[in-house]
Amino acid sequence: MRIFVTGATGFIGSAVVAELIGAGHQVVGLARSDSSAQSVADAGAEVYRGSLDDPDSLRRAAENSDGVIHLAFHHDFDDFLSGAELDRTAIETLGGALAGSDRPLVVAGGILWLSPGNTLTEEQAAPPELPRFSEKAVLEFTDSGVRAAVVRLPPSVHGEGDHGFVPRLIEVAREKGVSAYPGDGTNRWPAVHRLDAAAAFRRAVESAPAGSILQATDDDGVPVREIAETIGRHLGLPVNSIAPDSAYDHFGWIGPLFSVDAPATSTRTRELLGWRPTHSGLLDDLDAGHYFKEG
Ligand SMILES: NC(=O)c1ccc[n+]([C@@H]2O[C@H](COP(=O)([O-])OP(=O)(O)OC[C@H]3O[C@@H](n4cnc5c(N)ncnc54)[C@H](OP(=O)(O)O)[C@@H]3O)[C@@H](O)[C@H]2O)c1
Repeated sequence: MRIFVTGATGFIGSAVVAELIGAGHQVVGLARSDSSAQSVADAGAEVYRGSLDDPDSLRRAAENSDGVIHLAFHHDFDDFLSGAELDRTAIETLGGALAGSDRPLVVAGGILWLSPGNTLTEEQAAPPELPRFSEKAVLEFTDSGVRAAVVRLPPSVHGEGDHGFVPRLIEVAREKGVSAYPGDGTNRWPAVHRLDAAAAFRRAVESAPAGSILQATDDDGVPVREIAETIGRHLGLPVNSIAPDSAYDHFGWIGPLFSVDAPATSTRTRELLGWRPTHSGLLDDLDAGHYFKEG
């Protein structure tokens, strides 16, 4: 297949590009700058110059593809809604370009806020009031002749090169001189290795039926206390509880996220796609040491 990938230069997108090329697909990667174009070319993909801010560029690329994987996202956690709105417009544009073709559109979604306190399964629909619209936006195309699918991702997609939530927790621990966790630390984060996540996206674009809700989780739920303990051990710092209502003061924007109990399973995804995670879990990946190299 000739697959258009947005976010092709990102932490997950670059793994998806390698996974697709390794499986014999032709990849066209979105690049909005010269340096992104160089990365896409170095990865062995065809460079397509365009941007989330330029819907016409997305439309043309989708029309000239056999399917799309959408992973680009403008991450600004001080202004999350602007990034979410840009994402919604991009998905509507990509879906519109593929409508009536039965070609796949696979987008990344989140898990963290979908069903706090309960174990999330693929059968549970996302609540309508979510701050991120990706899942709702793509599934709207299910009845419009698009093989629409969402791959829900856990808050930690981990691996070498991670610049997401876990590195932020490590930075906070270094800044504060303590590796903290909220409350009793029993709230859980699911996780997956980026290479396993990439395999899930590849399988989804190849075969997920229209309307699929998929969850790429390996660890169903790691207690955040264990994450804090592992970070503390590697940094040689004390590990302490922080009162839940002080989480924002201590951790900043990541405090409320680190306080959510968000276990999730991937039973249906494994059955549907034949997907099996084969890489390390979050705590083993932390113990591998690469998260703690400075400079
Ligand atoms: N990493 C995680 O732990 C995690 C967890 C849950 C969900 N997710 C979701 O998974 C997806 C991929 O995440 P990631 O970690 O790979 O993200 P990332 O490393 O931050 O990469 C973001 C990608 O989006 C591109 N991008 C941003 N703004 C753009 C714009 N205006 N136009 C075109 N491209 C733009 C970037 O391109 P440039 O190279 O030009 O900057 C880059 O390729 C996102 O939807 C993210 O929210 C990730």
